[in-house]
Amino acid sequence: MGLLSRPPSAPVTILGGFPSWLQHVLSVQQFSREDLDNVIFPTAEKMESTVKFSGKSGFLSGKVLTVLFFEPSTRTSSSFVHAIERLGGSSCVINEVKFSSAAKGETLEDTILTMERYSDAIVLRHPEIGSVRRAASVAHKPIINAGDGAGEHPTQALLDLYTIREKLGRIDGQTVTMVGDLKHGRTVHSLARLLTLYHDVKINFVSPDILRMPPEFISQLRGQGVTPVEYDRLDEVIAETNVLYVTRIQKERFENLADYEAVKGSYVVDPKLLATAKPAGQMIVMHPLPRVGEITTEVDSDPRAAYFDQVEYGMYVRMALLALILRGN
Ligand code: NCD
Repeated sequence: MGLLSRPPSAPVTILGGFPSWLQHVLSVQQFSREDLDNVIFPTAEKMESTVKFSGKSGFLSGKVLTVLFFEPSTRTSSSFVHAIERLGGSSCVINEVKFSSAAKGETLEDTILTMERYSDAIVLRHPEIGSVRRAASVAHKPIINAGDGAGEHPTQALLDLYTIREKLGRIDGQTVTMVGDLKHGRTVHSLARLLTLYHDVKINFVSPDILRMPPEFISQLRGQGVTPVEYDRLDEVIAETNVLYVTRIQKERFENLADYEAVKGSYVVDPKLLATAKPAGQMIVMHPLPRVGEITTEVDSDPRAAYFDQVEYGMYVRMALLALILRGN
C-alpha cells in the first residue's frame, strides 16, 4: 500500500524491533552505526511520512512524557512535546524550576522518583555534567538526556546526523567543520563522537584558543581513528568543508565575563564567506540554534542553509526515539 493511500489512523511500523539499548538515552556512545542506519534513521523517515500524510498517529496513545528542564530551551523541549503528541501521547512540561520543589531544595533524585510515578519516560536537561546519568541510576523509567551542562546532547547529535544524511545523501566521506565554542558546546561533543562511526569523515575544529575542544574528546576521537585538525580561522578551511557546523559562544558557562567579551563575535558566517564555500548539493550550513549573531539572516535564503530543517528533522528523530523506547515499556 502506498503512503498516500494509508488511512490517517494507520499504525506506524517500527523497523528493527524493540532494541534493548534504548532503555535510557544518556550518551551517543551507546549507539552503533547499525543502530542509526538500520533502526533510528529509517524509523525517523517513517515518522516524517506519518506527519506529512496523516498529521499524527495513535501509536503512543495513553503514554505520558515528562519534560523536565532545569536550563532554558525552545526547540529541544517543544520538539519532544510535539513528538509525543504527534504519536497520540501527552506531556507534562516542567521548565520553570523556580515554581517546582527543586527551588525548595529537593534533590534531583527525589524529583525523578516523583515524576516517574506520573509518566512513562522523562526527558531531562540539567546544568551539571553527569546529572542525567545520576538521574538514570535511580530511575525505574527511561531517562533521555536533553543536555547535561557542557557534557552531551545525544538527541541533538542524532538529528544532526539525520540532517547531513537527508541533505547530502550520506555521512561517509564528508568534511565536517565545527566552529565556535567547542569547549562548552555539548552538541559538538556528541556530534564529534557520533561521526567516528562513519568512514573517511574529516573533522576540523575552529575556535578561539580558550574555547578549544577539551583534550579528553580529542584523544577519544584519535582512539577511534579520527584525527581532528584544529584551526583559529574559518577562512582557512571553508573551501574544503561539506558541513559547516556553527555554534553559539555559551556566555552562561563562562566563569569570567571579560573572557566572554574577548571572544564573542569571533566568527560570523555571511554571504561573503559562503561565496568561497562549495556549492549547494555539496555543502550545508548547520547550527543547533539559538544563534546570537554567528550566522547573518541574509544566509537564511541560501540553499545551503540547513538550520531550520534541523529543527523539523529533530521532531521526526525524537518521535522515532520515543516510539522505540516507549513501545516496550
Ligand atoms: C543547544 C543546547 O542547548 O545545547 N541548543 C539546542 O539544544 N538546540 C545549543 C546552545 O544552547 O547553544
